[in-house]
Amino acid sequence: MDSVSGLADLAEGCEVGYYALAMPSPVCVDRPRKRYTLDVCIEKWEGEMLKVIGIQSSPNLDGLTCQLTQAVLEGAKGEGAETELIHLNRLDVGSCKAHDRGWGTCRSEGKCMIEDDFQELREKINQADALVFSTPVYFGDLSESAKRFLDRWRRCESSNREASPLKGKRVIGVAAAGGSGGGAVNALHNLEAYLRYLQFTIFDLVPVTQASKKHKTDMLKVAGKRLVSEL
Ligand SMILES: Cc1cc2nc3c(=O)[nH]c(=O)nc-3n(C[C@H](O)[C@H](O)[C@H](O)COP(=O)(O)O)c2cc1C
Repeated sequence: MDSVSGLADLAEGCEVGYYALAMPSPVCVDRPRKRYTLDVCIEKWEGEMLKVIGIQSSPNLDGLTCQLTQAVLEGAKGEGAETELIHLNRLDVGSCKAHDRGWGTCRSEGKCMIEDDFQELREKINQADALVFSTPVYFGDLSESAKRFLDRWRRCESSNREASPLKGKRVIGVAAAGGSGGGAVNALHNLEAYLRYLQFTIFDLVPVTQASKKHKTDMLKVAGKRLVSEL
């Protein structure tokens, strides 16, 4: 924190944001248009790259859902972000067991009682700056792995909502459909409900079909870029 001594004086009297303009740090100078609170700016100033996580919930590791997620991450990476792609189906994330007559420690402690990969994934997202969450369209709805993860996550975010690290974090939701494209918008609608309950700020919601995948892939690269450049 020595490197930032004097910042509090600098910041005094300023409204939130624009401290970056006055800082000598290359990291902040590199991002002169960004508006950060003083705390956030200090954190970034100390050399941390913005991190964007992509979660794709199709069993096909080279399918459309994965490709669309990668398009967002490619755009974010091009803008200087650190990115990570997670294949949800490769993780061990089981179904909610509705412990203790409905509410387990998810409500009392904000933690799930089941010990599997859920906890680590949740923490990874808490640490990230933005998220892209993609699902294939199955029966006009989300994939099973997406529902399992989102159901447990939603429960754990049902209490202590003001303090949630997800509050205001940016997210792009993507639903990738097959031949007919039927149900893509409905799947996205259901995904939106989860993401809003989790208190994300929705940056974009994108339904993709076989017919639209080419131009939507290009568009998602731009969305990934802007997801970072406007943070
Ligand atoms: C169980 C199942 C249900 C599906 N239901 C729909 C559907 O309701 N509407 C649709 O357009 N495509 C449907 N599809 C097709 C997938 O959405 C499509 O293949 C999509 O590209 C899958 O993404 P992927 O390539 O990442 O696996 C379904 C596929 C499966 C396996």
